[in-house]
Amino acid sequence: MSVVLIAGSPGRLSRTSALVAFIDAQLREKGVETQVFNVNEFDGNEVFFADFSAPQIIDYRDAIAKADAVVLATPVYQASFSGALKLLLDLIPERGLKGKVVLPLANGGSDSHLLVIDYALKPVLSALGASNVLSGVYVNSRQVTLDGDKQYQVGDEASARIQRSIEELLEALPDLGSISEGGYRRVAYA
Ligand SMILES: Cc1cc2nc3c(=O)[nH]c(=O)nc-3n(C[C@H](O)[C@H](O)[C@H](O)COP(=O)(O)O)c2cc1C
Repeated sequence: MSVVLIAGSPGRLSRTSALVAFIDAQLREKGVETQVFNVNEFDGNEVFFADFSAPQIIDYRDAIAKADAVVLATPVYQASFSGALKLLLDLIPERGLKGKVVLPLANGGSDSHLLVIDYALKPVLSALGASNVLSGVYVNSRQVTLDGDKQYQVGDEASARIQRSIEELLEALPDLGSISEGGYRRVAYA
């Protein structure tokens, strides 16, 4: 079972990337294989001009094709998801999210656009063939704060909601059964 995580902020020091790193750590702790793609680590030209021959883009498309689940996180920009995330989504083939569980997250500077996942992101995910999109998590940026080492840390209230969404994600995956002490236990179906 593998999960691809996509962070959609062009910012180098990014709350969105911190949220993705937080989820990645939680999934790995449970023994889940993950791969993270941060839009701020791609070559901008390759993404903007959709260079399908670029190794990083080949790797990204392959990882999505093989993934059982995709977690995607975006900052709210102008009441919608980021243009940078849209560029990454546009690299996915038509219906490329079919059969995958998708967990969307957004973070914004206010609660004015807390429905952004529903009114902006979900229609795009639907166009990509995703039929199992979880309700997702909206995080106010006040809940992601810099520590003394200038690293973003996710606050307790947001952590708790994200952890519940991770449980929901794992429960939605078909080859996972109940939680054993060491993490998630694979269940073989005849
Ligand atoms: C260009 C721009 C537009 C933004 N528009 C909104 C907005 O419409 N609504 C909102 O709640 N926050 C808005 N914000 C605030 C960001 O969503 C917030 O700072 C977020 O935490 C940024 O995430 P990041 O650090 O991963 O880039 C905007 C920020 C920028 C830079």
